[in-house]
Amino acid sequence: MRGVVLAGGLGTRLYPLTKVTNKHLLPVYNKPMIYYPIETLTNAGIEDILVVTGGNNAGDFLRLLGNGKAFGLKRLHYAYQEGEGGIAEALGLAEAFAEGHPICVVLGDNIIEKNIVKAVEEYLQQGSGARILLKEVEDPRRFGVPEIDGERIVRIEEKPGHPKSNYAVTGIYMYDARVFDIIKGLSPSERGELEITDVNNAYIEMSEMQWSVLDGWWTDAGTIDSLLNACNLVAKTGANNLD
Ligand code: G1P
Repeated sequence: MRGVVLAGGLGTRLYPLTKVTNKHLLPVYNKPMIYYPIETLTNAGIEDILVVTGGNNAGDFLRLLGNGKAFGLKRLHYAYQEGEGGIAEALGLAEAFAEGHPICVVLGDNIIEKNIVKAVEEYLQQGSGARILLKEVEDPRRFGVPEIDGERIVRIEEKPGHPKSNYAVTGIYMYDARVFDIIKGLSPSERGELEITDVNNAYIEMSEMQWSVLDGWWTDAGTIDSLLNACNLVAKTGANNLD
């Protein structure tokens, strides 16, 4: 399994913190934000990682992460997203890197208390299709939200006014190589982006989507409030704990 960290975007919700740098280079307690999703992947045994970034500060990722040796990586690759085409467009840039292997994708601003070891094992047993990780949250309207019927996700709505569950779809996704064809068939949403939620809905329509509930706390760090929350959570318990 190969890993992809998506670290592009303008980070406008954190402005002016992101005026001269990329969101994923900002500190979360004692480390740059991007360290956390990389560790999430390495903790699950993934040693071959692609970082997709963009904007004016892409070179800083190379300065910060180098060849990935400090994380124990076998290979660290970089890709550059031109413009603001959305999460799914950024993921599309990983096709050549994936070389037909399944991938585990982590959004660069997603931080977890524990690990995804079990979910990755479950995905590998599943053998094909997609797997997403859900987490119960207080305000699902900020996220992708699943409608669940028994064991099945019926559909995911992106930032719904009237959420159909209290779960957020976290920014941790596992896909087989068909994801790249799905992305090629997407049309931009109203905000002009290719949406990861549309990718997930395509797998749901093919009845190829499974899910797990994430253990421990989960937060994004893409708004001022969630960044503060992330710093406090990491200070209290640490992140990416293996036990
Ligand atoms: C993105 C996804 C959303 C998901 C969230 C998790 O939203 O579009 O479905 O729940 O990440 O962090 P964004 O934070 O880019 O608005």
